[in-house]
Amino acid sequence: MPKKVICVAGARPNFMKLAPLLKVLSADSDFQPLLTHTGQHYSDQMSGQFFRDLGLPAPDHYLEVGSGSHGAQTGEIMRRFEEVVLAERPDAVVVVGDVNSTLAGALVAAKLHIPVAHLESGLRSFDRSMPEEINRLATDAVCDLLLVTEESGAENLRREGVACERIRVVGNLMIDTLLQNRERARESRLPAEIGARDGEFGLVTLHRPANVDDPAKLQELIEALGVISATIPVYFPAHPRTRGRLGALPPGIVLLEPLGYIDFIALMSRSRVVLTDSGGIQEETTGLAIPCLTLRENTERPITITEGTNRLAGVTKKSILAAWQEFLDNPKTGRVPPLWDGHAAERSRDALRELLGLPPL
Ligand code: UD1
Repeated sequence: MPKKVICVAGARPNFMKLAPLLKVLSADSDFQPLLTHTGQHYSDQMSGQFFRDLGLPAPDHYLEVGSGSHGAQTGEIMRRFEEVVLAERPDAVVVVGDVNSTLAGALVAAKLHIPVAHLESGLRSFDRSMPEEINRLATDAVCDLLLVTEESGAENLRREGVACERIRVVGNLMIDTLLQNRERARESRLPAEIGARDGEFGLVTLHRPANVDDPAKLQELIEALGVISATIPVYFPAHPRTRGRLGALPPGIVLLEPLGYIDFIALMSRSRVVLTDSGGIQEETTGLAIPCLTLRENTERPITITEGTNRLAGVTKKSILAAWQEFLDNPKTGRVPPLWDGHAAERSRDALRELLGLPPL
């Protein structure tokens, strides 16, 4: 009997991490992978487009939880996912990333004594005001297998007392997806359609509650971006959380709808610099050797700074413009971190085989 593994996805950044794993599990006759979509992200722009772009299978279970407060959303995912797990009785559950769906999926599995693996485990910003940091800490505390993207993650887990046997550094599934789709992204017509010229524009994303929920803080970021946009045009595909809070924008900032995966990679790989508060984009820019200024005070992905192209720019106008100047004076080159080589999914599968007592391939 193949081992039944339920993979839980809920929000946009989960989809690109699960796509390569689902592919390798489907190709292994010892596994029967199932996909549960919690519906944390539900609109076509945040979810459907990614399923099409990434060739993800239709979910086996769609929980339709939608948006809500953290407690309501996490609780509702738990309530509905518990029914799925009780009905399916999987051999394992896989959760990914740091969103509310990650934590809810892990808690349900752990309480039903189903082995649970966390992809992208161990990352720590050491900033508990970030909802994702709480999700990371709590998820890792109940998971059986901790699959890690960079060495700092393994160190953090060991420091928290996790036994070494439960930790595997497997590399970065998001980079698997990036490498698999780079060629397709070259064919995107979006850059030409919006007049974005290779290497001559900036690309911005912003969605962290700490940056966008307070109008004064958001305004300060927009002012800094306005100064930068006097030098190079800045394209800004705005997340729905951000869009609703934006006022008038400086003329050099071009507002776009949220982009699908292929179009976003197309724009990112042609940009001169990316300015972002996203976690995943810090990794993708390092994978693509595109300079990144991270509009945050900290990062849970330090390897993108020590080895990659990322710099922390802070969140004040002054610090962002200082980082911008530093970038102009000395654009950072980096190298791609160890195991960000396009084969993280196979290593994750091998770790899952071990967890479930299957012989090595
Ligand atoms: C969530 C994750 C965050 C991740 C981000 C990526 C948590 C705690 N946060 O934040 O870690 O980086 O996703 O996008 O899990 N909305 C839509 N369409 C959708 C989904 C949401 O329009 O499909 C709008 C709703 O108005 C919603 C708002 O966006 O209220 C915010 O969505 P929510 O899922 O609460 O959090 P994100 O900010 O997306």
